[in-house]
Amino acid sequence: MEDYKYLFKVVLIGNAGVGKTCLVRRFTQGLFPPGQGATIGVDFMIKTVEVNGEKVKLQIWDTAGQERFRSITQSYYRSANALILVYDICCQTSFESLPQWLHEIETYASSKVLTYLVGNKSDQITKREIPTNVGQQFSERYEMKYLETSAKEADNVEKLFMDIAVELTKQTKEHELRPNSLEIFNKGETTSISTVSCCKI
Ligand code: GTP
Repeated sequence: MEDYKYLFKVVLIGNAGVGKTCLVRRFTQGLFPPGQGATIGVDFMIKTVEVNGEKVKLQIWDTAGQERFRSITQSYYRSANALILVYDICCQTSFESLPQWLHEIETYASSKVLTYLVGNKSDQITKREIPTNVGQQFSERYEMKYLETSAKEADNVEKLFMDIAVELTKQTKEHELRPNSLEIFNKGETTSISTVSCCKI
């Protein structure tokens, strides 16, 4: 018998060096790894969380930001339940690349995919190049949820993944109740983390 109620696939994308791997490590292992090398292709980690007393398994795919891996990483979009599009709030180039990433999403992901825009490295206050309201406005224009995070300071990282777990659980339950409906409703859900397990390929 499965030890979880739902399994969701979450894929992180965005330019090289914006902190995708650090966000995943912070959430799954509770650490900020020193000297993190560039991701080669794709890494994968698992964490089981609890949403309203039910176990939800998050399969988290950390893709390489480097252009040369793009053809590999594109193949992971299709089956994603949620995409986390990450930029670095201290790096204008990573923000300017967002339209390209949106094009990738439009081309390769499911039209129903839940997409979060994340401005990472919010701890770097003096080096900030992208004001919060600029990120927020961009996310609203493209109908994405928005959060600023710090993998280093563990700021908003758990909230990011838990929000995704709650939202996907809510959508799935709604779909189970009314299979033909795309409408989503949520009433006061509570969450807590139960178990953690990790693997790397
Ligand atoms: P690729 O694997 O090449 O796509 O990069 P990535 O997006 O996975 O970036 P990674 O997690 O490897 O982090 C890149 C650099 O940013 C590392 O030096 C991290 O230490 C640093 N970094 C990541 N997150 C944060 C953060 O929240 N704050 C600060 N100050 N540095 C961060």
